[in-house]
Amino acid sequence: MVEAKWIDIGPVEQLPALGARTLPVQGGQEIAIFRTATGSIHALANKCPHKDGPLSQGMVHDTSVTCPLHNWRISLLTGEALGEDKGCVPVIPVKVDAGRIYIERVAALAGVA
Ligand code: FES
Repeated sequence: MVEAKWIDIGPVEQLPALGARTLPVQGGQEIAIFRTATGSIHALANKCPHKDGPLSQGMVHDTSVTCPLHNWRISLLTGEALGEDKGCVPVIPVKVDAGRIYIERVAALAGVA
């Protein structure tokens, strides 16, 4: 049996604008799912490239999230640290279909394991 390419992780309305939720994946890691003010949805490994801060607890501004530990800003689009800081966190492809959020299976499992 072929596994589905996308994993349904629930309805968009469960995620408030500027909010985030986490999703556990294998190996005890987590994915952070974010919703921006304009309603776009993004997913990153829930681990700041600086010292593993939980990005899901950061503040979302436009298309970036500020890490709650030392205020690095991470792009929700590329996973890269912005400004002077250097580092990158895996981005997991996301799509929204009929009001539900899907994340790409392979990236979700490989990106943060
Ligand atoms: S752990 Fe995120 S800025 Fe330090």
